[in-house]
Amino acid sequence: MNISVIGCGYVGLVSGACLASLGHHVMGVDVDQARVESLARGESPIYEPGLSELILAQHAQGRLCFTTDIGRAFRESETIFIAVGTPPAPSGGADLRMLFSVVDDLVRMVDGPKTLVIKSTVPPGTGEQVAARTAAARYPIEVVNNPEFLREGTAVQDFLHPDRMIFGANSPRGLEALREIFQPLIDRGYAIFSMSRQSAELTKFAANAMLAMRVSFINELSLLASAIGADIESVRVGIGTDRRIGPSFLKAGVGYGGSCFPKDVAALEYQMRQVGIEPCLVAGVEKVNQRQKLIFAQRVLAALQGVQHPQVALWGLAFKPDTDDMRESPSIPIARTLAAGGVALRVYDPQAMDNARKILGDAVQWSRDVEDCTRGVDAIALVTDWPIFITQNWARMAAIMRGKHVFDGRNCLASGKVAAAGLYYHAVGRPELAPGAGRPGSMGVIPSG
Ligand code: NAD
Ligand code: UGA
Repeated sequence: MNISVIGCGYVGLVSGACLASLGHHVMGVDVDQARVESLARGESPIYEPGLSELILAQHAQGRLCFTTDIGRAFRESETIFIAVGTPPAPSGGADLRMLFSVVDDLVRMVDGPKTLVIKSTVPPGTGEQVAARTAAARYPIEVVNNPEFLREGTAVQDFLHPDRMIFGANSPRGLEALREIFQPLIDRGYAIFSMSRQSAELTKFAANAMLAMRVSFINELSLLASAIGADIESVRVGIGTDRRIGPSFLKAGVGYGGSCFPKDVAALEYQMRQVGIEPCLVAGVEKVNQRQKLIFAQRVLAALQGVQHPQVALWGLAFKPDTDDMRESPSIPIARTLAAGGVALRVYDPQAMDNARKILGDAVQWSRDVEDCTRGVDAIALVTDWPIFITQNWARMAAIMRGKHVFDGRNCLASGKVAAAGLYYHAVGRPELAPGAGRPGSMGVIPSG
């Protein structure tokens, strides 16, 4: 099938390359000329494991190409995926201007019957608005919703091995079109659930809000754990092994970030208010998240009280490991709160330095590597759980630091090793360890999902 994917960001690129790998002929379209030029050279503009290789391979097979010419893409494909951004509007709702602009282009240029697949995350009811616009077109345009559940860092894997696929269609023809596109994955045994467009749209919001709620739930409990001397890691194992609860998205830390959880929770909250429902639970999810980031920074500041010209090494900037994405990263408010508290910050991230520079500018000192970042500092504040931080040599770190404090904002470090190196270990919702102390009764580790 000839498919065009409008928007070559995280979702559009991964979807386009993966659809090509399923045998379709895919044309990726973006308004960003530089992005399209780099893609045409086979270079991925984003860091996503396995993506560059897939783009190169599909390009070489002649199944994947890129253009800025949206008219050509419309003409040469019977199915059009929209994967443009749906960022937060000042109201808290989703800003759908980029999406509607593509829809209006299609209505103007359409030259035959088409299927329009909304891949972007959109508030429930958006499909109805899109269908109302496309009703005026010269040829029929079947509007369907196919929400995407990929995670950055494992995006290619998630797309090609989905837990399930959601097909949102309000007509048998729309459903059939989606089946045809994803037949290779259906043949491999991956489950599909077909439902109305509105239900599909709400399913996507519900999934992100539920995952964000779990993270905020454990983060709120981590505050109580700290207050009473319990260990949130033990609690996580204790509840996560209950099959009704499961282990995923229960890792306490500095709060969630990324381009989706914060914006989708806000958009859900906004839409509930719009229809007259008080979002009691949903409103608390982001509130807890904001507080979690600030509490972490304030704990670092408190430990450094009285230190002359305090310096902190911020380990990690991206909102999670295996991505260079800085959107809504907890590192941003944490860095700003520390800087406002008079701390000189040295920062390091294996992938996100370029993107972070555009946000933090000269408010921080940019380091070459972990050692450069850590030399002479009074404290380490780990914000992103990159493997390179987890496997550090703690005796070496203790030797090059000026102070002795390690703040593990992701509960990912071997606490005993940190303390054995003569450092204070501070985590999230866990008892602190003094230099030389061991941790009694440590539990097994379960995956955090
Ligand atoms: P992104 O900002 O990385 O990419 C969007 C791309 O669309 C940009 O390259 C932009 O230049 C391009 N674009 C904007 N207007 C255009 C137009 N008129 N024509 C052609 N290209 C245009 O966004 P993203 O992270 O890929 O997210 C896209 C959508 O997918 C959002 O709705 C998001 O909520 C949803 N989503 C994202 C993820 C994720 O992990 N990032 C996962 C699931 C769903
Ligand atoms: C998330 C969802 O997991 C995807 O299914 C969805 O498609 C995507 O949003 C989207 O709609 O954009 P992503 O934002 O890439 O994916 O990253 P996650 O792995 O979900 O992590 C989100 C944030 O939660 C990160 O900051 C992470 O550090 C944090 N997190 C996650 C925790 O603090 N604790 C956990 O236990 C899990």
